[in-house]
Amino acid sequence: MSQRTLVLLKPDAVRRGLVGEILGRIENKAGWRIAALELRTLEREVLEQHYAEHVGKPFYEPLMEFMTSGPAVALVVEGERVIEGVRTLAGPTDPIAATPGSIRGDFGTIVRENLIHASDSEESAEREMKIFFPGLA
Ligand code: PPS
Repeated sequence: MSQRTLVLLKPDAVRRGLVGEILGRIENKAGWRIAALELRTLEREVLEQHYAEHVGKPFYEPLMEFMTSGPAVALVVEGERVIEGVRTLAGPTDPIAATPGSIRGDFGTIVRENLIHASDSEESAEREMKIFFPGLA
């Protein structure tokens, strides 16, 4: 089942020079391809839409501050079961709980600076792709 998912390489991934490493892991998966990609410092207004469900949670403001702290890479990945697949590559939210071999498990220590976001469902993917790539067919 071919799907599309919205992925963000967070500002820590860009600052630490891990973009190539992470994109490589995604591109190495058979049949997956990058359908859109952009490097930019994300505006707070865009992130307010993206993280709307988390307004009021204790991590919301630190997350906003972090996500606007420097350039990030937004991309759309297309391919077989890519929604579940990118989340498996990423590992769980807390990098210390993430298995070595996953992106967060290999490179992260701090929950806030967990390197990557990936849509968690088809509905989220549709919603999030429209936020970051409104012109995408
Ligand atoms: S929840 O409440 O279970 O839905 O939250 P969760 O899915 O774990 O996390 C939602 C997003 O918030 C980020 N997050 C944090 N950011 C900064 N600081 C702290 N402590 C923190 N805890 C969670 C988490 O990485 C999720 O962002 P994305 O971009 O989806 O990974």
